[in-house]
Amino acid sequence: MTKIRVGIIFGGRSAEHEVSLQSAKNIIEALDKNKYEPVLIGIDKHGGWHLQDNADFLLNSSDPRLIALNKSNQDLAVTPGQENRLMVVSSKADANIDVVFPVLHGTYGEDGTMQGLLKLLDIPFVGPSVLGSAVAMDKDVAKRLMRDGGIPIAEFSVYRKEDNINFSAVIRTLGLPLFVKPANLGSSVGISKAKNEDELKRAVDVAFQFDNKILIEESVEGREIECAVLGNENPMASIPGEVIPHHEFYSYEAKYIDENGAALEIPAKLGEQEVKLIQELAIRTFKTLELEGMSRVDFFLKPNGEALVNEVNTIPGFTKISMFPKLWEASGISYSDLIDRLIQLAIERHKNEQALKTSA
Ligand SMILES: Nc1ncnc2c1ncn2[C@@H]1O[C@H](COP(=O)(O)OP(=O)(O)O)[C@@H](O)[C@H]1O
Ligand SMILES: [Mg+2]
Repeated sequence: MTKIRVGIIFGGRSAEHEVSLQSAKNIIEALDKNKYEPVLIGIDKHGGWHLQDNADFLLNSSDPRLIALNKSNQDLAVTPGQENRLMVVSSKADANIDVVFPVLHGTYGEDGTMQGLLKLLDIPFVGPSVLGSAVAMDKDVAKRLMRDGGIPIAEFSVYRKEDNINFSAVIRTLGLPLFVKPANLGSSVGISKAKNEDELKRAVDVAFQFDNKILIEESVEGREIECAVLGNENPMASIPGEVIPHHEFYSYEAKYIDENGAALEIPAKLGEQEVKLIQELAIRTFKTLELEGMSRVDFFLKPNGEALVNEVNTIPGFTKISMFPKLWEASGISYSDLIDRLIQLAIERHKNEQALKTSA
């Protein structure tokens, strides 16, 4: 059997570059090597693409603080419409990729840009396509679509750099404390919790350093429940899990720096009805946001039993201890089976798309 060549694309220009390297390392390790051959593509922080050697593509791979791309000198060129769609610049050798697993978080990876490029190259890829990726990345647009779809969310308002924010009016409307976040980011980068007007002003300045559009949200008192979704036309929802942050909220520190920053409880301690509610909302959210392949839907579960969708991650973390693979493990799908299914879903979707007419 000829092996399917899986391009694993990782790194990238986002604030989540290092997180991506960790996820990629775990995916590459878990790939069934009897069926798949990994082709490693590292994107450096300037956006350059490099074909990487399997053995030494990472520096300090065991330390999340020091992990870095070991930049190869095999620069890649992307040539849509050519037979060699991805080739090594120096040798013109074809990278020969059958399907891509983009292991990129945040900007230029999870936001539809990479997905658009892969579509132009006509290479099947794992995870949501252009529209779903772009929509889910923008917390403002995603929330407006969810609101339109009748999916419960927290109260929020949106501001752009040129807006004059009336801080006391915001506090009157949404109360205190407040969460301030860049519209298009992730990993809690640029997010702060503000307990008074001064903190709110500072939080807004911080968020605007990362994006030209920000959200100010009411603070939701509730448990943080996450549910994984897998599939194309008939997606299924995993057993939900809970994140219990040991910091004031699930901050960047709590996520990636502090080893004891948060505890994951899988399965989450929930009643049967709560599980049903979360799973049903996760699937509805997935469909409402035009998602395909996979996503992780994150909730706040209030003490009164009400569940609000906080956000959706279309390329969730894939380290062995990440929520998404852990939730599937708890639902009966092992890490390597999950990778296998995701690749098969990508190939299936591509086949379906190819069967469509492109002209009358
Ligand atoms: N409205 C809110 N109420 C309470 N906590 C929040 C709210 N918004 C965000 N948080 C906290 O901040 C964390 C990160 O926010 P989130 O919107 O999930 O952004 P990111 O995409 O960076 O993960 C959440 O996991 C939660 O701990
Ligand atoms: Mg989040």
